[in-house]
Amino acid sequence: MGKIVALANQKGGVGKTTTAINLAASLAILGKKILLVDADPQANATSGLGLNIHSNGIYDCIMGDKRAVDVIVHQPEVKKLDVLPSSIELVGADAELPTLERGHFRIKEVLDPIRESYDYVIVDCSPSLGYTTVNVLVAADTVLIPVQCEYFALEGLGKLLNTIKMVKSKLNPELDIEGFLLTMYARTRHANQVADEVKEHFGPLVFDTVILRNIRLTEAPSYGKPVILHDAQSLGSLNYLNLAKEFIKRNKSASQDNGDNK
Ligand SMILES: Nc1ncnc2c1ncn2[C@@H]1O[C@H](COP(=O)(O)OP(=O)(O)OP(=O)(O)O)[C@@H](O)[C@H]1O
Ligand SMILES: [Mg+2]
Repeated sequence: MGKIVALANQKGGVGKTTTAINLAASLAILGKKILLVDADPQANATSGLGLNIHSNGIYDCIMGDKRAVDVIVHQPEVKKLDVLPSSIELVGADAELPTLERGHFRIKEVLDPIRESYDYVIVDCSPSLGYTTVNVLVAADTVLIPVQCEYFALEGLGKLLNTIKMVKSKLNPELDIEGFLLTMYARTRHANQVADEVKEHFGPLVFDTVILRNIRLTEAPSYGKPVILHDAQSLGSLNYLNLAKEFIKRNKSASQDNGDNK
């Protein structure tokens, strides 16, 4: 059954969407069947993959009577990549979801019927820890946390980790941390200090792969493409391909460990 991985950090602009798009595309190119779920009303992952942000999307599944299979679209250029798009309507969900019975479980109920069709379901969250993001954490198996290599990077992580702990204790006991990903790394002393500090705090949970600052990553969404199709030789493309390989390798050894423990 497809593993659901949420990309979350309530700090804005840390690389959640860039990672969602390019990890999803790289995993798909490596042969995994991938669904990218856009759970952000900004719909940057949807438009960044060249898809229409005005059509039906996740909001119609959460608040309306559409099923995920009715609104999932295929990314035309990446064979094994599907997208559950978002739109600005989703901005209402934070206020509307709490009025529903089992409101915390809506996204889980939307994703559960389709997850077995995929190897991984990658969910791009908005920069908030509101009701919709908590819904994603309830649906998810793990959380992948992008951390931008700059001042205040660690500030706010405590709040995110507390939210994860709260969800784990009350709503989703299986929730785990997939890992911390250092993003927008520039080879400066300061970025090194931040990276060291994150590694000191979180040890082996930090991915070995680091995402460097790379202009191609900024350009690619305006062409509606993952970076690997925009400039396959770019550092950004290589970094995300390496991340996808590390992600697959870690998941392989984790599932072997689980098997050994049975
Ligand atoms: N490694 C990188 N190198 C250069 N630019 C990057 C890199 N990663 C992200 N960016 C740029 O930084 C900006 C913020 O990135 P992104 O949209 O991925 O962050 P986010 O966490 O999804 O933001 P939000 O919280 O608003 O959803 C974007 O303009 C993106 O193109
Ligand atoms: Mg984003």
